[in-house]
Amino acid sequence: MNPNKALWEKGDFTKIADFMRESGEAVVQSLGMTTPLRVLDLGCGDGTTAVPLARLGADVLGIDIARNLVDAGNKRAAEAGLSRLKFQEGDACNLQGVRDHSFDLTISIFGAMFAPKPFDVAREMVRVTKPGGRIVMGNWIPNDPTSFVSQLLKIGSLFTPPPPEGFVSPMTWGVETHIVERFGQAGVPREKISMVKDTYNFISPDKSPAQFVELLERFYGPTMNACEAAQKSGKMKEFHNQLLELAKTQNKSTDGSTSIPATFLRVTVSL
Ligand SMILES: C[S@@+](CC[C@H](N)C(=O)[O-])C[C@H]1O[C@@H](n2cnc3c(N)ncnc32)[C@H](O)[C@@H]1O
Repeated sequence: MNPNKALWEKGDFTKIADFMRESGEAVVQSLGMTTPLRVLDLGCGDGTTAVPLARLGADVLGIDIARNLVDAGNKRAAEAGLSRLKFQEGDACNLQGVRDHSFDLTISIFGAMFAPKPFDVAREMVRVTKPGGRIVMGNWIPNDPTSFVSQLLKIGSLFTPPPPEGFVSPMTWGVETHIVERFGQAGVPREKISMVKDTYNFISPDKSPAQFVELLERFYGPTMNACEAAQKSGKMKEFHNQLLELAKTQNKSTDGSTSIPATFLRVTVSL
């Protein structure tokens, strides 16, 4: 099986997405949508961004590589009565069946960054977006101590065997030179690309940072893999303690609940 697909179907990202709903809404509000748009949410998960987009009146297609998340997204759309929101399985590296210039907006919040062939991803996002439209990506930033997920994955990498040769780290999507090079190869000049740091919040009023870490260990594919490797090497306790330390030090809530702000790079490409 495609290891990229296996990684995300391994767990249940909906359990993590529960902490992301508020910021998903905020990202959608910040887009300043005025007219109804046709939107592609790439690497959409169960619709943290897609659902609020559809609520605002957009016609939304969510594409994700994980079958379980596509099913969870369609269930959420049906429960919310959002008939113009559809989720389907697909790979950001090759959006076969999606026609050229189909969308006013292609958005990918911490989604397409995890696809293994970044140049193909950039080319596909440009191909399916209309001229005059835009692409918006949210990407974690490597080696930024306030970019919670990049720190989470960095800790995981300390306990995991090195990746196979040719593996391109998803975190490279948080680096300006790579972004410019990838969209450049897809035909987008530098002046059409803007990058700003922004903050995403992982929030739960009734779960502590320790419970958040437990959910990451049980349900978040990349952390599950790191857990398995740490267990094999007898370092599970050390791994768990490092995750706990990270979550506790980044948590801003003082009442036992979770509120972790995480810096990310917001990339906007105007076509
Ligand atoms: C960190 S989650 C983010 C999900 C969602 N955008 C959100 O904000 O909740 C990463 C998502 O990217 C999806 N993904 C990873 N690789 C992909 C690929 N090659 N094509 C499409 N989706 C992919 C995963 O299945 C997962 O749903």
